[in-house]
Amino acid sequence: MIIAVDGPTASGKGTIARALAEHFGLPVLDTGLLYRAVGYQTQLNHGDPDDAADALAACQFPASLLDDPALRFESTGSLASRVSVHPPVRAALFQRQVDFANQPGGAILDGRDIGTVIAPHADAKLFVTASAEARARRRHAEMLSRGVDVTYDAVLADVHARDARDTGRADAPLLRAPDAMLLDNSDMPPAAAIAAAIAFVETRTRNNG
Ligand code: DC
Repeated sequence: MIIAVDGPTASGKGTIARALAEHFGLPVLDTGLLYRAVGYQTQLNHGDPDDAADALAACQFPASLLDDPALRFESTGSLASRVSVHPPVRAALFQRQVDFANQPGGAILDGRDIGTVIAPHADAKLFVTASAEARARRRHAEMLSRGVDVTYDAVLADVHARDARDTGRADAPLLRAPDAMLLDNSDMPPAAAIAAAIAFVETRTRNNG
């Protein structure tokens, strides 16, 4: 069984993907981490994330970089969003994601283009979203709890910028697949969103099987 979980930044898609992985006993790949590694490696190389050649060179990042806590930084998310617009970068990361999706026994992947490009044949697709304000509120609270000094307005501006870049790029933009369940969790506690996702996948796979 392949499950695709897509959605914008700070939508809770990672939490839902991990909960689904635990519930169904499947391996999970956070594909955003690959783009984060490319963005961060571009910076380590003193390259320009808006330059396709510099970003492509950074696709040769060492595997150990995926464990670097710096990949989780807000600033790395912005770098990832910038390098992800370049088609050669997307092409370089494509096969790795397809292989993960098609491994025997199935898999769960979360990202922006899983249901549309990486695994259009997925058994169940979810598009997890929430209003920009709800996402900014959650991210702001989470950053304050980590001791990051940032205003809500700055976080909201970053959410809008990330959305514009991720949905506006020409190659594999963030897009809800027509057969994806829309899970808007703006007014839902995480446990309710997780329960709705599990119920949807169970219905989908029962109907398919
Ligand atoms: O999910 P995330 O915030 O870690 O993703 C960081 C950036 O990576 C996101 O803004 C766009 C890019 N990305 C992408 O283009 N395609 C994916 N499948 C996953 C992430």
